[in-house]
Amino acid sequence: MSMPVSHPQLNARGELKHLLTLEGLPRESILHILDTARQFIDASGREIKKMPLLNGVSVFNLFFEHSTRTRSAFEIAAQYLSADVLNLDIPASSTRKGESLLDTIHTLSAMQPDVFVIRHMQSGAPVLIAQHCAPHLHIINAGDGWHAHPTQGLLDMYTIRHYKRDFTRLTVALVGDILHSRVARSDIHALTTLGVPEVRVICPRTLRPAGLERFGVRVFDSIDEGVQGVDIIIMLRIQRERMNGPFLPDAREYFKNWGLTPERLARAAPEAIVMHPGPVNRGVEIESSVADGAQSVILQQVRFGIAVRMAVMSIVAAGDH
Ligand code: CP
Repeated sequence: MSMPVSHPQLNARGELKHLLTLEGLPRESILHILDTARQFIDASGREIKKMPLLNGVSVFNLFFEHSTRTRSAFEIAAQYLSADVLNLDIPASSTRKGESLLDTIHTLSAMQPDVFVIRHMQSGAPVLIAQHCAPHLHIINAGDGWHAHPTQGLLDMYTIRHYKRDFTRLTVALVGDILHSRVARSDIHALTTLGVPEVRVICPRTLRPAGLERFGVRVFDSIDEGVQGVDIIIMLRIQRERMNGPFLPDAREYFKNWGLTPERLARAAPEAIVMHPGPVNRGVEIESSVADGAQSVILQQVRFGIAVRMAVMSIVAAGDH
């Protein structure tokens, strides 16, 4: 579950300099981000959403892999904070002419950015950049390979706290393709750090990372057993683009064995909520009536994602102002 790459995220004063992973991030740092996001949610009800917190700060969004939610949320968040934003058009960039990742970063660094938001298909790319970039720069990981998706993990924690308040009384289930899921890794690290007493992982054996139990989770082979009595169900997409072999039967068979249906949801606690980081594959991991149903908070997650990214950007850049 952990990767052979690391870099300090906190500076000598214990402040967040980069956000690369939730693994090892102290509970106080996570709660500080969630509390700050809460203030931005309150502010977003105002008529004028823009605030001058990051006036003069340049944020470069570098998305080497496709994204709808994360990329838009980072862009909107930076604009609400009055930062200057560059969205590099990667398909039209010189990366297609053979320029290395670090050469691209060094070139863009010459244009004096303050924050790089990086999504990359290779696990460890944001860490590599943090190890080699100029000391004044801040790196925010927007999802790297199988490794981590820390802002998704944080917005998931924000959502759980919003609906359930107390992490220490919850049973949370993650269901689906755990093996290829950076969201699962970030969620598991955050949930255990925040004191959730029971984190369940429900997945086919072929999509189960080796040594999963070491991370303090209960592993289930059966979704019917695994969702029994849980407070939160986090459904995960089958990450076919990260598979290089036959891990699964076809989509219909997968849905029959692992899909979240109203009947399976009825086994959870009566007030259980259903989450999904998106994109949702209806009829594969979740039935449409559940994705759109009264217990689904999937679109709320998207909304909270803006405030959480505002919190992360304002916290990492705060020390520079
Ligand atoms: N949840 C998530 O990362 O979605 P995108 O790939 O659309 O950014």
